[in-house]
Amino acid sequence: MAVAATAVGATRRMLRGLPRIALALLGVIWVVLPLVPEETGLRFGMAFRVFFTAALVLGAGFFWLLGRERLPIPRSTAGVLGSIALVYVATVGFLVAVATVSPQFGLPEATEDGAANDAVTRGKALFWRNESACFQCHAIGGRGGTRGPELTDVGARAGARVPGLVAEAYLAEKIKQGMLHRYKVPEYVPMMPPFGQIFSDEQVEDLVAYLLSPAK
Ligand code: HEC
Repeated sequence: MAVAATAVGATRRMLRGLPRIALALLGVIWVVLPLVPEETGLRFGMAFRVFFTAALVLGAGFFWLLGRERLPIPRSTAGVLGSIALVYVATVGFLVAVATVSPQFGLPEATEDGAANDAVTRGKALFWRNESACFQCHAIGGRGGTRGPELTDVGARAGARVPGLVAEAYLAEKIKQGMLHRYKVPEYVPMMPPFGQIFSDEQVEDLVAYLLSPAK
């Protein structure tokens, strides 16, 4: 097919620049990404860098294959579409496999008894629930995201955040108002959504009870 042949020709020309492009991308992954300041809320840890590098190597291998003389070129439209579908399925499959083997955040196992009767247990479930997203930005006990402050010992500092507000009141306000709250933890990008419309007052109380509980 003419289109496929032209594409292969263009790819072959590009190949000469490939080592340079690959080197530049490697530079970005290993030199530039680690320099991204943490305040931006973006963090590229070792796992990310290894993953990007693996993706780069795979991509380079793919282009190298394309540039080889004897690569069979599909001759029909169905063949071309089939190849695209194959590459797509392989790529998505690979990414799903990576995400399964190494999820970005470990989710805690569901509690065994299933009895969510006290406030702390209910608050804990809310905090780690996917839709509330707390754990995507906050860590407790070493698990969770880093875009927001780590909350394991938030109970110890919550009472000193706003003069006149005890810990419970500050935490409830902060959860309801998020980044719109008058107090913002310094050195973080204010990006916490206001949860006042999402949670009922009882749910906010449960979250506060969980955040204040000594054993999380
Ligand atoms: C999109 C990211 C994001 C999500 C989702 C998020 N937060 Fe935050 N949170 C932040 C950031 C960033 C800060 C620090 C800046 C600020 O004070 O606004 C913060 C601050 C806080 C604080 C104040 C901590 C302190 O030391 O005073 C509490 C408490 C808190 N979040 C609880 C929660 C709870 C509970 C949830 C889930 C209902 C949640 N957050 C969801 C990003 C997030």
